[in-house]
Amino acid sequence: MSALLKNLPKIRPMYGIDIDTILAIENTLYPYPWTKGNFTDSLAAGYECRVAECGGEIAAYGVLMMGVKEAHLLNISVATPWQRIGIASELLRCFIVRAKENDADTVLLEVRPSNIAARALYKHAGFSDLTVRRNYYPDPAGKEDAILMSLVI
Ligand SMILES: CC(C)(COP(=O)(O)OP(=O)(O)OC[C@H]1O[C@@H](n2cnc3c(N)ncnc32)[C@H](O)[C@@H]1OP(=O)(O)O)[C@@H](O)C(=O)NCCC(=O)NCCS
Repeated sequence: MSALLKNLPKIRPMYGIDIDTILAIENTLYPYPWTKGNFTDSLAAGYECRVAECGGEIAAYGVLMMGVKEAHLLNISVATPWQRIGIASELLRCFIVRAKENDADTVLLEVRPSNIAARALYKHAGFSDLTVRRNYYPDPAGKEDAILMSLVI
C-alpha cells in the first residue's frame, strides 16, 4: 500500500442513496461514464457494490460481479483528490477477499490499453494480461481494444 494512506478508508456496501454522489465522481473520471441505470442495475442484480469513505466522504467505489468460480471487476474508481494514496489498492483487496469468500479462483477485468494508471494499479496488485478484446470500448477515434487481465486468487 502507498505509504501516504495513513488512515484506512472505511469500505462499506453501496446503497441507492449513494448513486448521485457516485455519478458526480464517475462523470469527472470517464469520457464514457456509467449511467445511473448501470449502478442501480448492479445493486438490483446483487453484485458486490462497495464504496470507500474517507472522513465520511465517498472517495471511491467499485463493482464486482460474481460468476461460477470467477469474479469480474466491472468498475473501480477513485475521485481525483483521493487518488494515489492507496485507496484503489485497498478496495481491490476487499474485492479479492469477497471473491474468495464466494469460492472464485480467478478475478478478471478489462482495461483500456491507454489507461496507464489503471494498468499500473492492476500489475501492482498481481494481475497479468490474458488476452485482447478487439474494438471493445467506445472511443472518439472509433473503438479502443480492451486488455483482459486476470488474477488467480
Ligand atoms: C486507476 C485508479 C483506480 C487508481 O486508484 P488509486 O487509488 O490512485 O491507486 P493506488 O493509490 O491504490 O495505486 C496503487 C498503485 O497503482 C499504480 N498507479 C496508480 N495510479 C497511477 C498513476 N496515475 N500512474 C502510474 N501508476 C499508478 C502505482 O503502482 C501505485 O502504487 P504507488 O503509488 O505505490 O506507486 C484511479 O486512477 C482512477 O480512479 N482512475 C480513473 C478511473 C479508472 O480509470 N478506473 C479503472 C478503470 S479500468
